[in-house]
Amino acid sequence: MKIDSSTRILLTGASGGIGTHLAEILARKGARLMLVANPGVDLRVVQKRVQELGGKADYLVADLRTDEGVAATVDEALRVLGGVDLLINNAGIEFTCAYHELAEQDVLDVMNVNLIAAMRLTWRLLPSMLAQGRGHVVNMSSLGGRVAPACQEPYAASKAGLIAFTFSLRATYRGTGVSASVICPGFVETGIYTRLCENTGMKAPLLFGSSKVEAVGTALFRAVEKNLPDVVVNPIPMRPLLALQQLLPRVGEALVVAAGGHAFFRRVAERLKK
Ligand SMILES: NC(=O)c1ccc[n+]([C@@H]2O[C@H](COP(=O)([O-])OP(=O)(O)OC[C@H]3O[C@@H](n4cnc5c(N)ncnc54)[C@H](OP(=O)(O)O)[C@@H]3O)[C@@H](O)[C@H]2O)c1
Repeated sequence: MKIDSSTRILLTGASGGIGTHLAEILARKGARLMLVANPGVDLRVVQKRVQELGGKADYLVADLRTDEGVAATVDEALRVLGGVDLLINNAGIEFTCAYHELAEQDVLDVMNVNLIAAMRLTWRLLPSMLAQGRGHVVNMSSLGGRVAPACQEPYAASKAGLIAFTFSLRATYRGTGVSASVICPGFVETGIYTRLCENTGMKAPLLFGSSKVEAVGTALFRAVEKNLPDVVVNPIPMRPLLALQQLLPRVGEALVVAAGGHAFFRRVAERLKK
């Protein structure tokens, strides 16, 4: 599906680092956007920026942890845009913490925002996408959903769920004009990762590196316009490691340990506790 000024887009997590960048590059195409976040204090600023860049935007504060928030988001998007061609499930939260030390509600919140909201929004929008014979769902996953680092259990589980959800959607709706893609970024120099660096004084392990936010924007256009199943965003190619994890899980695990992937998040968890 080509993204242009006729594309009606529902973008969640629009007030954060990656979401704000996506809103800006979509605005440059003249797209019409419904921006969603919670509490969403910066949504008005992002709306203004979209309009300055040549796009059109409305916004809604909605808590995607709840069914009411999801229902309100879909109702408002359909009312204002008259339909949705591109749903970008980008809203996400994380806690870096030993699993047994998390509150049960934290576990549920991560699953609800990162995975369940994406599934609910998609479920509610699919009938209208199928009726118009045009639609694409982009799920913002993470390499965390594949590598599953230490102290990231709910986050990794939610992001792995998004990958399976995307692949199943593609299989079900093949040939209907409706499709889905998943984007798996490693560390991206904005939002969650930038805050993590500021709060702990740490930087991503050298063997993983970090990407500029622009790389996620490029991935979005590639995913939608080429109808790709998944796009991995990382400065160092990660597919060989991911393939090895599938083929030889113990070797893959040893490599992630050697690259410092688990130690990094364990140290982050310790520093955040102090
Ligand atoms: N940055 C990275 O290194 C990185 C790497 C891989 C994947 N990702 C993924 O990319 C996505 C965006 O990450 P980011 O780094 O840009 O994070 P961010 O700056 O923290 O932005 C997260 C966005 O989600 C919104 N949100 C949080 N809870 C919500 C809720 N209950 N209901 C509705 N919206 C909610 C936030 O709203 P408020 O602004 O109002 O809080 C914000 O707009 C996430 O799914 C994340 O997992 C990020």
